[in-house]
Amino acid sequence: MSIAEKFVSMEYGPAPEDPKEAISWLERHHRRFDLFIGGVWKAPERGEYFDTFDPSNGEKLADVAQGSAGDIDAAVKAARAASDKWRSLTPHARARYLYALARLVQKHSRLLAVLETMDNGKPIRESRDIDIPLVARHFYYHAGWAQILPQEFPEHEPCGVVGQIIPWNFPLLMLAWKIAPALATGNTVVLKPAEFTPLTALLFAELCQEAGLPAGVVNIVTGDGSTGEALVKHPDIDKIAFTGSTEVGRAIRGATAASHKRLSLELGGKSPFIIFEDADLDSAVEGLVDGIWFNQGQVCCAGSRLLMQESIAEPLISKIRDRMSTLRIGAPLDKAIDIGAIVARVQLDRIQHMVEQGVAEGASCWQPNVALPARGLYFPPTLLSNVHPTSIVAQQEIFGPVLAAMTFRTPREAVELANNTVYGLASCVWSENVNVALHVAAQLKAGVVWVNCTNLFDAACGFGGYRESGYGREGGREGLLEYMEPKWLKHAPKLLVAKTEAVDESEHLAEARTPSVDRTVKLYIGGKQARPDSGYSFPVRAADGSLLGEAPLGNRKDIRNAVEAARKAEGWGKTTAHNRAQVLYYCAENLSLRRSETIHRLAAVVGEEQATREIDLGIERIFSYAAWADKFDGAVHNPPFRNIAIAMNEPIGTVGVICPSEVPLLGFLSLVMPLLAMGNAVVAVPSEKYPLITGDIYQIFDTSDLPGGAVNIVTGYVSQLLKTLAEHDDIDGIWVYGDDATVASAKAMSIGNLKQVWTNEGKTIDWFNPKVAEGRWFLEHATQVKNIWVPYGE
Ligand code: NAI
Repeated sequence: MSIAEKFVSMEYGPAPEDPKEAISWLERHHRRFDLFIGGVWKAPERGEYFDTFDPSNGEKLADVAQGSAGDIDAAVKAARAASDKWRSLTPHARARYLYALARLVQKHSRLLAVLETMDNGKPIRESRDIDIPLVARHFYYHAGWAQILPQEFPEHEPCGVVGQIIPWNFPLLMLAWKIAPALATGNTVVLKPAEFTPLTALLFAELCQEAGLPAGVVNIVTGDGSTGEALVKHPDIDKIAFTGSTEVGRAIRGATAASHKRLSLELGGKSPFIIFEDADLDSAVEGLVDGIWFNQGQVCCAGSRLLMQESIAEPLISKIRDRMSTLRIGAPLDKAIDIGAIVARVQLDRIQHMVEQGVAEGASCWQPNVALPARGLYFPPTLLSNVHPTSIVAQQEIFGPVLAAMTFRTPREAVELANNTVYGLASCVWSENVNVALHVAAQLKAGVVWVNCTNLFDAACGFGGYRESGYGREGGREGLLEYMEPKWLKHAPKLLVAKTEAVDESEHLAEARTPSVDRTVKLYIGGKQARPDSGYSFPVRAADGSLLGEAPLGNRKDIRNAVEAARKAEGWGKTTAHNRAQVLYYCAENLSLRRSETIHRLAAVVGEEQATREIDLGIERIFSYAAWADKFDGAVHNPPFRNIAIAMNEPIGTVGVICPSEVPLLGFLSLVMPLLAMGNAVVAVPSEKYPLITGDIYQIFDTSDLPGGAVNIVTGYVSQLLKTLAEHDDIDGIWVYGDDATVASAKAMSIGNLKQVWTNEGKTIDWFNPKVAEGRWFLEHATQVKNIWVPYGE
């Protein structure tokens, strides 16, 4: 073809990136890789290796060691041995190592990008221009944190040895998201890459050697799910950080429940891509291409659900089809390719199967007329329209280049549809009307909202999900907190709880006949006093064993009613912070008015001295959270694009609280007030020892303008109520103060909807010491960060 003809046809010629360097790297290793443990390469204990392939052509790239439980143990030991020295380095020394890693990533960026593309199948354009530069950025950013850490977090220390498990969709980027903050905060690491894409992690191990990183600080153990499982279960791991499927996330929550391992989960998504009729449609279509066809749609935050305003659906679909027809599918090392290969046969089959299911459920399937390469694993860009919101393709993560399109009429309906998912990772809103866009952004239940943009990431902006997309954030200040613990908590003594057994019914009846009891209280649900469903009450005794009164014996039904009331009161989270502060001040005022009578009653159980301190400190604690209500602000990040990212501290939603038994009033206030201050609705189980405190508490709320349902109180036995609270699908988080066994069962029972679980890890909290019992640590757990990205400029 002549140049003149080419000029007319505008055909792309081949533009392959040269894989020579990557191939010679593989050859240098004789295409066989061992485990990186304690700074050296070790053959796997059992001598087993697995193959890793180039999915774009099916060719085998290398043999990679299959790590066993024994290998994991060796790696954990190496990480433990390196831990003390690493954490006691000066901040500057740690910063220099991270800085050196960032420089080395940049220096070897071409090799890393080519190797990533060969192992994963993603277009070189993406690995070269997005993944690897972001990897370097993460190490630079966290080098900075290492330097200033003691100034910014003087009361924290590292978790210790961290186990990290990553997926195959962004192999090196996920490694960076995990390793950089862990090292910056003084942890040592055992990382398990995904079995489909282990190569760049192994090259990174070499960079650690080149940087002179002390042996054992980073250990890389390759292998499959069983290797990951061994890491999760290893008793000497202090924290697990996982990115991958929601299903495995659940298994890990279950497997770590009985331990005190900290856990952060970054799981799946079904992110909405909302386009309003006033959007710049051409830009929105470009955004959509990036949103769903970036990395073949194998992206946890892929904009896989297109929600279009009905009035523009037709022209929009036609624009999308036109654009889809120009997408180029093929060998991912070609620099002009838009869509590369699917990572593995099993993933390709899964995509195919889900599309078939979607069509069987009534969706219409459209694919452009493009030829797929003869060899390798490819799936064409696919548009499913007429998708019913309940269809499997609208609800479940496909993790492939498949877009499910639906329509809406009003902004309200858009929000409803967008939130109609168990996930909550990311979302996009396209509208030229900034009021509409930000109003909708505020209502979306997702950790990230991109306004008129998509798939922007930065190390300074925490990334992570709401709901079943997991918990914890990666990046930003909030991401660092996942790798540290307050010093005092780490060294706090164990909480030993005297067990209160559920008393048998005949005793209740007998007690109920006992005359001249001091008082009874009721449950407090939806702002009203309520009788317990069971019709029973249980005895409450004074310190000397005498009967003080009766407390209602709450059951499952009462918890459910309380959760329903709390759900209805979520408007509390939308009131202004000033307003919430006012209500809290009013609560303090009312408690102070009832000071002497409350002391008198509480004194019978905890003694006069403790009762007085509980109330005086309680009033102070409420003041403290009234003060914080309008001061625990978010941040505005300035990522390196023409964008601002508004980080909002949003309430978690409805939170269940198991209160301390021994400190009935102050314990209750210390947990419930930070949640209220941040706009959460609460269902609390008060002190089992002295549930009668409920009567004093609801009188305060009743006279303080707190909207009904914002706090609900169900008295009863923790052993009976915790299960309903922890398993309830309408509860977004649960705070549990208890002994080891109570805390473990809360975690184990929370896996259904993967609610956030925050506990004392079976340790004692000194509620009388404001340095540990109030402040940021509580507020950080009462909120979740949502980043709203807004572009600026022409
Ligand atoms: P996966 O969740 O099984 O794998 C992720 C990582 O976890 C891998 O390193 C794997 O070896 C490890 N793993 C597997 N089982 C484990 C266990 N019991 N304990 C500890 N570690 C374990 O994901 P998979 O099978 O590769 O993909 C399945 C589906 O998961 C995809 O189709 C996609 O829908 C979703 N997925 C979501 C990701 C996300 O970033 N949200 C990433 C990868 C997959």
